Amino acid sequence: MTTKTALITGASSGIGLAAAAQLAAEDYGRVIATARTQEKAAVSLVDLERRTNAKVFVSEVVDLSVPATIDALADRLRDAGVSIDLLLLNAGMMSGATPKHDDQGFELTFSSSIIGHHQLTIRLLNDQMLAPKARIIIACSEVARGDVPMVSVIDVESFAAKTTDGDLVEALKRIAKAKGPGKFRPNDVYATAKACVAWWAAALARQLPPGMTVNAVSPGLTPTTNNARNSAWFARVVIPGIMKVLGIGGSAEEAAQNYIEVAKLDDTVTGKFFAAPAGKIAGPIVVQTQCHIINRRLQDATFEAIESLAGGTKLSAVKGVYK
Ligand SMILES: NC(=O)c1ccc[n+]([C@@H]2O[C@H](COP(=O)([O-])OP(=O)(O)OC[C@H]3O[C@@H](n4cnc5c(N)ncnc54)[C@H](OP(=O)(O)O)[C@@H]3O)[C@@H](O)[C@H]2O)c1
Repeated sequence: MTTKTALITGASSGIGLAAAAQLAAEDYGRVIATARTQEKAAVSLVDLERRTNAKVFVSEVVDLSVPATIDALADRLRDAGVSIDLLLLNAGMMSGATPKHDDQGFELTFSSSIIGHHQLTIRLLNDQMLAPKARIIIACSEVARGDVPMVSVIDVESFAAKTTDGDLVEALKRIAKAKGPGKFRPNDVYATAKACVAWWAAALARQLPPGMTVNAVSPGLTPTTNNARNSAWFARVVIPGIMKVLGIGGSAEEAAQNYIEVAKLDDTVTGKFFAAPAGKIAGPIVVQTQCHIINRRLQDATFEAIESLAGGTKLSAVKGVYK
């Protein structure tokens, strides 16, 4: 029997729930499925066991916008001696017309998609709770490519020139707080948070010990999930309804397969952003190489900004520590 362990965030709904179920059919003997509350975690556990008829699930609680819950989760995992082979950072959300801030002042799109995931990842790495050949996958999106109509990745360099005397790190911190200048555009903030996911993964890959990988993966457009829950009625109900009728986008199960496909790649593939090719919003994924995605200055500035926002804890010198 396998003892491989996966931990997945945002497993209470949509693609995360589907991915947790699929991991039970892969060679994972333990799937730690996290939700934001005990109640949601308990409901997901029942649902996962019913869907899969497997007894491999452990339900856990973490709210990525509340740092104390991240530390508490990491403490429990450490005390239980858990070693994680797949860290699937799937959670994320998009705000509605007005920004929503957590208690630290970060817009929730950023804290759920990247800041909380950074804090969790660094804690697990520094406490050596990731297996030597661990795979880290973080949820990205096609909108980070910058070519999806009516959605823009904020031009961080221009924004920095206007607001922070060209300082990219300070500009990114400001963007994560979504306090302007300019009108709040939830789609653009979401696209920029997901671009930060791709930049962060590229920068983290350069710091991981040999054998371990991190990749940003878009599951692809999936109209059946709760991703648009904060959007206006038209975007939340009508557009997904039309997409379902026209067959645009994929199912949560197909989306989850994209994560699992990349998790199976060998350790030569790291720091990449996988998404559907230009012109497509779901389906088979390829490595993205747009100029802004492979921009080393943006990758390093993003890592520095997110590290600072997540409390400043540095990654210990992990290279060589893992045997
Ligand atoms: N659906 C799409 O078309 C699409 C396309 C590309 C990428 N994605 C990405 O795929 C991932 C999964 O999204 P989905 O479509 O499955 O949407 P979903 O059904 O809304 O699932 C999102 C999950 O993330 C959790 N979550 C949100 N904020 C959190 C926080 N602060 N702390 C911990 N968990 C949090 C949610 O928990 P609650 O249930 O408690 O809110 C839920 O379990 C997201 O990162 C999303 O951005 C989705």
